[in-house]
Amino acid sequence: MISDKMQDALNAQINNEMWSAYLYLAMSADVLNFGMKGMSHWFRKQTDEEMQHAFKFMDYLESHFASIELRAIAEIPIVWENPESMFETALRNERKVTSLINNLCLIAENEKDYATIVFLQWFVTEQVEEEESVRTILDDLTKIGEDKAALFLLDKELEKR
Ligand code: FEO
Repeated sequence: MISDKMQDALNAQINNEMWSAYLYLAMSADVLNFGMKGMSHWFRKQTDEEMQHAFKFMDYLESHFASIELRAIAEIPIVWENPESMFETALRNERKVTSLINNLCLIAENEKDYATIVFLQWFVTEQVEEEESVRTILDDLTKIGEDKAALFLLDKELEKR
């Protein structure tokens, strides 16, 4: 059994994950305007991952016979100046999600909800990977700068995800 406060916070996180999914879906569309098919594929995969995160929260609530509330998804940005600014937005988003997950851990601790603390550990680890993968691509883009050949190769690499 989980508390009403924990249930509400976990439902809010479903919405956060779905917002992230929608954000990355917008990026997968907009990055095509720069001819980056590999990046589009990468963002589409990222969308899938975020949806899986949302499903994990839903399944966890279900396992506690708790209410699942699907809330309205707030508006997302849809246009970026260049691929680099997209990955900057993505990194900001992942850092925000990390702090949201940390906050969920804090609520679970305060509620003495040990099952939820254990459940959240997967997300704590996942966020380290999420931040690292976005940060790595962003660093590559910074190094590449205006080098079109290097950008082409990075795009090809991201298509393999
Ligand atoms: Fe679900 Fe990218 O964090």
